[in-house]
Amino acid sequence: MSYRSVKLIKRPTLEITEDVFNIVTQDIPTPKEGEVLVKLSHLSLDPAMRGWMSPDENSYIPPVKLGDTMRASGIGEVVESNNEKFPVGSRVMGLMGLTEYAISDGNGLNMIPKELPAEAILSVIALPGITAYHGVFEVLKPEAGQTLIVTAAAGSVGSLVGQMAKNLGLTVVGVAGSDDKCQWLTKELGFDHAINYKDADFVEQLTNATRNGIDLFFENTGGAAQGPIFDRMNPHGRIAVCGLIADYQKEEASPGPSWIGIIKRRLSIQGFTMPDHFHRIPEYGQALGAMLGKGELQYRTHVIEGIESATSGINLLFEGKNTGKLIVKL
Ligand SMILES: NC(=O)c1ccc[n+]([C@@H]2O[C@H](COP(=O)([O-])OP(=O)(O)OC[C@H]3O[C@@H](n4cnc5c(N)ncnc54)[C@H](OP(=O)(O)O)[C@@H]3O)[C@@H](O)[C@H]2O)c1
Repeated sequence: MSYRSVKLIKRPTLEITEDVFNIVTQDIPTPKEGEVLVKLSHLSLDPAMRGWMSPDENSYIPPVKLGDTMRASGIGEVVESNNEKFPVGSRVMGLMGLTEYAISDGNGLNMIPKELPAEAILSVIALPGITAYHGVFEVLKPEAGQTLIVTAAAGSVGSLVGQMAKNLGLTVVGVAGSDDKCQWLTKELGFDHAINYKDADFVEQLTNATRNGIDLFFENTGGAAQGPIFDRMNPHGRIAVCGLIADYQKEEASPGPSWIGIIKRRLSIQGFTMPDHFHRIPEYGQALGAMLGKGELQYRTHVIEGIESATSGINLLFEGKNTGKLIVKL
């Protein structure tokens, strides 16, 4: 019996072209002592994968080596086991790569409940949820009555950030790249305002939506919206720098706002990456599961099918064409 996996064979120059990947077919391996064989059912496509393809050794996680299976997280079932912690039939999640089958020694593998749909786990309990949760509760530390703005607001992380802040009694403004996405935020998720950053009068709309200024800024994109948002920050405001997707495929990063403004408005700006906080997954997972159970968090998914769809499908994230958590169903 054979299976397919996606190997990274070339580093992208700027955009992710399909020739950076090679889909190989191999015989399904047999797990050794201490190992398990996992049959993957769902893979997660995330903007961070663009960074993992770059040769930068000075990041929070080493680059994927050329010739290796492309790193990605996924959900699957243990189908053969030589590891008593993960018996046959266990449902597991971990960074197993863009592959139909994976061998694991159990390191970094988490057991997940069988009753929750895979889509709910990948959209809420996995990376998007723990990122939103950490950024909101540990970095921004919101208080009722404050105004929070979030970019890539209709995306996996951003949509959860806004809903968490609404549930805490904040005024929430979302910034997204289409009118449909903005409508989903205000009509379905209860955001107070949603602004399309591509509109010519973006700055005017932003001013109108943030009459009392902005206390908390959850930054997912960078790009042209960043400067005008920064200019509306209130004294002692806080900025959580989670992602800068507008820069991931650029030769040079965009210039940020002047540091003078940080002093004048006594701002706190903190970057964070989740691998530093993976030890808190059980705690965050429990909190997110409870929110989901109480109906406090809605999510939507954008599902593409088959391992071969991953190699071009990842670009949906950078084109703004994903409408929800981008998932590959195997
Ligand atoms: N720090 C961490 O540990 C961590 C963990 C997870 C994610 N992140 C970051 O969080 C951000 C959101 O990730 P996600 O998984 O939730 O993805 P997502 O928001 O579901 O999808 C990415 C979205 O980014 C927007 N976008 C793409 N190019 C853009 C551009 N040039 N300017 C402005 N917006 C652009 C698009 O939405 P529009 O249609 O609205 O443009 C696109 O749908 C990313 O920057 C990611 O790297 C960080």
